[in-house]
Amino acid sequence: MYNDNQKIYVRGGCRLEGEVSLDGSKNSALSCMVAACLVENGEVVKLQNVPDVSDVRILMEILCGLGKTVEYEENTLSLSGRITNCEVPAYLAGKLRGSTYCLGLLIGTIGKAMVGLPGGDAIGERPIDIHLQGMSMLGMRYTLHEDYVEAECSGRLKGAEIYLRFPSVGATCNLMIAAAKAEGRTIIDNAAKEPEIVDLANLLCAIGVRVTGAGTDRVVVYGTSQVRGNIAHDIISDRIEAGVLLTSVAITGGRLTLRNSTPYHYNSLLHQLRLAGVKVDTEENTVYIDGANCKDAMRVTCMPFPGIATDMQPQFAVLCLQCEGESVITDMVFPERFAYVKELNKMGAGIKRKGNSISVIGKSGLTGTAVTGNDIRAVTALICAGMIAEGETVIDGMVHLNRGYHNIIDKWRSLGANIEIR
Ligand code: UD1
Repeated sequence: MYNDNQKIYVRGGCRLEGEVSLDGSKNSALSCMVAACLVENGEVVKLQNVPDVSDVRILMEILCGLGKTVEYEENTLSLSGRITNCEVPAYLAGKLRGSTYCLGLLIGTIGKAMVGLPGGDAIGERPIDIHLQGMSMLGMRYTLHEDYVEAECSGRLKGAEIYLRFPSVGATCNLMIAAAKAEGRTIIDNAAKEPEIVDLANLLCAIGVRVTGAGTDRVVVYGTSQVRGNIAHDIISDRIEAGVLLTSVAITGGRLTLRNSTPYHYNSLLHQLRLAGVKVDTEENTVYIDGANCKDAMRVTCMPFPGIATDMQPQFAVLCLQCEGESVITDMVFPERFAYVKELNKMGAGIKRKGNSISVIGKSGLTGTAVTGNDIRAVTALICAGMIAEGETVIDGMVHLNRGYHNIIDKWRSLGANIEIR
């Protein structure tokens, strides 16, 4: 990891080419780390393929604060011990969105929680009302304070039938974790279907919790007091890192072989790349692309899975800058995720926003300048913009890159990008 205060210097004019391998999914690692803490009988849960990113490190600190023992070596996390404390301090919780999962964990295990409100990215409002409504159905009572939520329940949570007003990834994970030790069966309808939900369900099954329907919009969790450890679980590869790498190569008109990947986790993205003129071939764990003919304007709509992930939205904006004519990108998940547009416009992009959509006119030409990446996905988009800009782009936002990507700068350099950190 680089120092959070360092800046990223990118020189334009490269064409990326080569082969890289994906790391484990940051988002999946976060929910699985918390779920692993459901095991309190002294047995160890090992999570493998965990990326070394600062969100993981901060969550480790939070879980240690709750009384758990957490060790991290060579991408393997070992979690054991008991929960002895019900407090997640606001200053730590505020650093990442995944900290909310501690609410489900604490209320489901010790029946008491004081959890700081989650942070994460500056991508618009990020309420937790869906989490709180669902947990109330399971028997949790809560008071919302300015920067934390205080919650309790008497005895075990009780399984219930819950409908989510939006298929929130975080609420689905949180409720699955809470329901794991509840009495009886919990049905989560209109559940999120993202691959990270399936990964979490697989971990829960491995520790003895029966879960069905993960990956569909009805997830059923059969609560048990008999969870067990002594298992090892492999975190899935990071489909967002896959999308960032694939689009960055297409943006530069280059060629990539992407290993350790699961293409069906981002079929919608591959489909969109094909429509733009990128040649895409897939095998079970490998994707090959050739972006030499990427030039056709697109209409991109970011939606819950299996749609194109909202996290990919800024990447597509840069890709559209390389296409001919007008492209339109709409975000149905985070309608305010457009702070990066102002930064791209400083580079000469001329992108216009209307509601939850932007219009991008391609081939307008970018010039390197100083820009700021305010969230984890904006910063990679600005780096990619730097790759096609004239001259040097200086990007402030290392703190966000550290949060979510293990060694993406090295990966880009190995493909021929001209990036310096200082
Ligand atoms: C997770 C991912 C994030 C990804 C997002 C959507 C993690 C740590 N982060 O975030 O990278 O972009 O899924 O795939 O896994 N909402 C509410 N009330 C709630 C919860 C959500 O109104 O209680 C709204 C949000 O403001 C947003 C939408 O629902 O507009 C989707 O949010 P959600 O799926 O919950 O995203 P996160 O879990 O926060």
